[in-house]
Amino acid sequence: MSALIGKSEKRVDGRDKVTGRAQYAGDFHLPGQLYGVVVPSTVGLGRVLSIDSSEAQSLPGVVAVISHLNAPKLAYKPHKAFIDPAVGERLHMLQDATVRFYGQPIALVVADSLDNAERAANELRVSYDRQQPKVDLRDPSLPKVAPTALGEEAAKHRGDMSAVIPDIVTVEEDYDIARENHTPIELHATLAAWEGDKLTLWSKSQFVVNEQAEIAAIFGIEPANVHVISPFIGGAFGTSLRTWPHVTLAALGAKVTGRPVKVTLSRKQTFYTTGHRPLTLQRMRVSATRDGKLTHIEHHGVGETSRYEQFAEALVGATNYMYSCPNLKVDYRLQPCDTSTPTYMRGPGEASGIFALETALDELAYKLDLDPVELRRRNEPKIDEGNGKPFSSRSLLQCYEEGAKRFGWSRRSPRPRSMKDGRMLIGWGMASGTYPVWFIPANARARLTSAGRFEVEAAASDMGPGTYTSITQVAAETLGVPMAAVRFRLGQSDFPPTPPHGGSMTMASVGSGVQSACRALQTELAKVATSAESSPFRGAATESLEWHGGVLRQRGKTDQLSYEQLARLAPAGLTAEGTGGRSEDAAKYSMHAFGAVFVEIAIDPDVYTMQIRRMVGAYGAGRIINPRLATSQCVGGMVGGIGMAIMEATVLDRRDGRPINAHMADYLMPVNLDIGDMQVIFVDEEDPHVNPLGVKGLGEIALVGVAPAIGNAIYHATGQRIRDLPIRIENLLHA
Ligand code: MOS
Repeated sequence: MSALIGKSEKRVDGRDKVTGRAQYAGDFHLPGQLYGVVVPSTVGLGRVLSIDSSEAQSLPGVVAVISHLNAPKLAYKPHKAFIDPAVGERLHMLQDATVRFYGQPIALVVADSLDNAERAANELRVSYDRQQPKVDLRDPSLPKVAPTALGEEAAKHRGDMSAVIPDIVTVEEDYDIARENHTPIELHATLAAWEGDKLTLWSKSQFVVNEQAEIAAIFGIEPANVHVISPFIGGAFGTSLRTWPHVTLAALGAKVTGRPVKVTLSRKQTFYTTGHRPLTLQRMRVSATRDGKLTHIEHHGVGETSRYEQFAEALVGATNYMYSCPNLKVDYRLQPCDTSTPTYMRGPGEASGIFALETALDELAYKLDLDPVELRRRNEPKIDEGNGKPFSSRSLLQCYEEGAKRFGWSRRSPRPRSMKDGRMLIGWGMASGTYPVWFIPANARARLTSAGRFEVEAAASDMGPGTYTSITQVAAETLGVPMAAVRFRLGQSDFPPTPPHGGSMTMASVGSGVQSACRALQTELAKVATSAESSPFRGAATESLEWHGGVLRQRGKTDQLSYEQLARLAPAGLTAEGTGGRSEDAAKYSMHAFGAVFVEIAIDPDVYTMQIRRMVGAYGAGRIINPRLATSQCVGGMVGGIGMAIMEATVLDRRDGRPINAHMADYLMPVNLDIGDMQVIFVDEEDPHVNPLGVKGLGEIALVGVAPAIGNAIYHATGQRIRDLPIRIENLLHA
């Protein structure tokens, strides 16, 4: 059995998901468990003066009201993973009276049922010393700071920005993007149970080994005493990368009451303390000669962060390498506000930065009277001009070609408002996207069962892309067995450690680790075959043996051993571990995925309602392990891009920093009716440098470039250039 990689296998966990057998964090129950409800601050800055819990504690079923007045002191030992802000200190739970932002947890009410806990939480009487939070990024009194962790990457330049080149055309504009929240279907949830000094957490997490380490540091216990279990995730998009306060609160509640405690955040609460895409303000200047050759690019970006941590992302990073341009300057700064710390959200940094770059290029194309695809083609770089390295592979030109062809781009009439369908204005727009190829070595182990089948394990997570399935394909192909012979398990902190399930690196890192573990197991089995009493290969050199279609044989001989036979010769449960590595020459290359998105939008000329009729996304993302799942993942990213472009915005009340639309009625997101025909193309791309599997990752690139393609289509339809996201009906009506 071979060639499973590249096949559209069905989800191995599909049946469990549709029958409800798959258990998500909030689905776990323990005998005698209690329910914790988080009480959020109702002021945006200040101090808690008093908490009167007498009424709450007299209500039925209430077991504990925990606040800074009675909470045990927690160790909060230093611990940071690279997903945590390098500068600053995480929020400490219920350790003092300080309120840093609206919605910060100030108490946990624990009761025997969710209803009882919620009722009691409503009866807490809290008084505050209330101060005025500053949450408006455009407030000139807020100081900007350099993002310490990014060092020189935050401000780069090449060439000479003051170079005077005659007869150039310039676009210089501001591009602002609203704060967004991840809003996956599954709410954050943690069930915590102590047994002595050992803690088990059933918790929604994209990074179980880090949740283990983080909670151990917070409680001052050994990581080995914390076990995190996260078998299924109902979407996350980055919001479950860090270990947020509710996890600590669940463990704290369980500690104080001596019983298991489950904390599930409400939808509203997921807008307070579980990260968000930071609001960003950008200024972009692009200049080109009359024949469309870029001469200058200047990109300034500011992102919001909290006052207690510096969250930094790659806002201006892609501008360095996207196009060929001799004179370039990028600069990224942070603006601390009285808000909770933002975090990574699908395509973090690039999705926002590329909106500014790709919108400005579209504006430039109109000024130059050039087709927007042609303008980009004329500025295709030969190398990464930001760091001077060659690209390991770059298929952006093929993405333009295949995407444009599938879309029918050549039939576009360039003038705004020139395409119509009946009375509807039709707009065709496009944009490019990119995202780096990340790789962090992951460990995995593979075990041969007595029946000649395989169990493969890695800490990892699967938030929906189909990691269970695609990793099973890699394991089965490596071992030369059918999918059904392999059981891949993930989502446990005592499995071999892996990097976060984020940054589009799971297949690159965990896939390579699993491949390595399976090969290591084969090596162990070859040793068994050359040493076991009754083996036909006893005494043979292991190098003379080879694997072929799931059997071991000796070159030039007819004897062979199946895995079933090997299982009888080998010690019970023979296990091997492996670590994914990549070749040493990897550092010589600039490694990125690229894509091009084409959009057709129909807009009512009177009331400006918008319908995105169709989209084509063409991606150069290396090898595609499972085209069905990869396509699904890209469609999901494109849908996310619709949200970013025309719907999503978390709006803060300037009086107290409260997110005023912290619910799914007013935090608008695409629903089925908003989604037209979605087509995904993967251009052929072989990249031997990125990692052993040759994959580049898909999760982030799928969203990057979608918002500017839609904005550009809106301009083409209406002749109105809206430079702030989201672009809503009211922006077009008022423009
Ligand atoms: Mo992704 S934003 O790294 O989950």
